Amino acid sequence: MTDTSTTSEKGPQPILRARNVGKSFGGVHALRDVSIDVYAGEVHAIVGENGAGKSTFGKILGGAIPADSGSFELDGRTVTICNPIDAQQLGITIIFQELDLFPNLSVAENIAIRNLAYSDRLLVNRKRMAEFCLPMLKRVGLDVDPGTMLGDLHLGHQQLVAIARALSMNARVIVFDESTSSLSDEFVENLFQVIDLLRSEGIACIFISHKMEELFRISDRVTVLRDGEYVGSRPASELPQDELIGMMVGRKVSEQTRAESHAAGEVLFECTGLRTRRLHDISFTLHRGEVMGLAGLIGAGRGELGKALFGLTRIVGGQMSLESRPYLPRSPRHAIELGVGLVPRDRKTEGLMMQMSVRDNTTLASLSDLNALGLIRQREESTVVERVGTQTRLRASGAHAEVSSLSGGNQQKVLLGRWLLVEPKVYFFDDPTRGVDIGAKHDIYDLIEQQAARGKGVLFVSSELPELLRCCDRILVLNQGKQVALLQSDATSAEEILRYATSQASQAVAS
Ligand SMILES: Nc1ncnc2c1ncn2[C@@H]1O[C@H](COP(=O)(O)OP(=O)(O)OP(=O)(O)O)[C@@H](O)[C@H]1O
Ligand SMILES: [Mg+2]
Repeated sequence: MTDTSTTSEKGPQPILRARNVGKSFGGVHALRDVSIDVYAGEVHAIVGENGAGKSTFGKILGGAIPADSGSFELDGRTVTICNPIDAQQLGITIIFQELDLFPNLSVAENIAIRNLAYSDRLLVNRKRMAEFCLPMLKRVGLDVDPGTMLGDLHLGHQQLVAIARALSMNARVIVFDESTSSLSDEFVENLFQVIDLLRSEGIACIFISHKMEELFRISDRVTVLRDGEYVGSRPASELPQDELIGMMVGRKVSEQTRAESHAAGEVLFECTGLRTRRLHDISFTLHRGEVMGLAGLIGAGRGELGKALFGLTRIVGGQMSLESRPYLPRSPRHAIELGVGLVPRDRKTEGLMMQMSVRDNTTLASLSDLNALGLIRQREESTVVERVGTQTRLRASGAHAEVSSLSGGNQQKVLLGRWLLVEPKVYFFDDPTRGVDIGAKHDIYDLIEQQAARGKGVLFVSSELPELLRCCDRILVLNQGKQVALLQSDATSAEEILRYATSQASQAVAS
């Protein structure tokens, strides 16, 4: 355990071998007989559809949950991983998608607390803590004062703190579970540089992601899981993308672009000179049946625009109108009544009630319709929940399943299902495909398209530009709270959008 000898060459012996790992939750087999070898100094991607068992595998390695069956070897020795302390002692760490750090503690405290490698655990000695942390922060290229409150850092930087923490625990195997899904491109780039460095130091990085481009860029080998079972492992360089998708989904996913635009001439929604604390002078019109993309870096104001439309932030200037009537929502409830729906970005803190069932979460925003006589009409409720479940291709053990037990992508689908039921006139989708597998992404594109075809207006935030180019009629680019471009999708490119999104806002011209 103390021997952290590292070699960047792939020795014949894996650093970590997982053998015949099995895990069930109730009747659901999350993993069945999964065996994976991981080598020192490799980036090993684990991919598969939502619910395939990737996070479960990562959590077992990190000691967050125990396996039901199977065994593990580290450097050829059989080891047991029953809890996070075991994992830490063995040098295995998982960086969770929703970071398990404390925003109200300093960077140094976050690294030192619960860290077996930090000797003064019982005494708070700021100076010693800072000395302990600084070399690790340096290794991940994060130049901050260790006394800084974690919550004051950008999410991308918080992630680097989590990696620094892993390094300080002498981690030799680090699992990244969808670490890039909430990062903007610049931070993804930064993270990849750090992963490259870890690889060169002989650390094994297990990289879980749904983003094809990323995994082909960063990984040496790819392992595919499907429905909790091992499908295969291949060198990334010898695996064409369509073959990989075939391994993942076991069916063909059409990559075709959009059939036709549904945008009509009639203006549905209009925003003129809109200002909030973070937005300056936003003006656009959304037509019936139009899908308008919102591009920009994190912090550019896309989420803020959603909040303004949904009555969650104070509007300090400008006007909005819906179907030619003034639109000024006082609260989310009021926004829903007037006909605007927001599918939030952060499903855990803003969207779903994690301890409640699929059914209750689905009907949450439309209860008044189903509640006509003061009693929720149970049978009707079951029917509609089933219908939207089919529409979104939800995979859950049933309508009674607790949402916290669903895989990330399926949680996202519950949230979408809720809004399909509400039927607003204007939808604001804030990064709906985040953490969603490739098959489900296409399901979501289809859903958006269907809403447009029915004459709804759709505002669609995404950090993946190909997705915006595929789904939208026009793309509005925001940069530091300002509108810097309004582009026709079929006449622009990812490069052009990125140029607007990253330019100095003061120099860019609004169009
Ligand atoms: N705590 C739990 N209770 C019940 N079922 C669970 C629990 N955790 C996971 N599952 C189930 O195990 C299966 C695998 O889930 P897991 O989270 O590992 O999938 P995943 O591959 O990470 O998917 P995603 O890409 O959506 O994150 C799913 O069917 C999920 O519903
Ligand atoms: Mg997962």
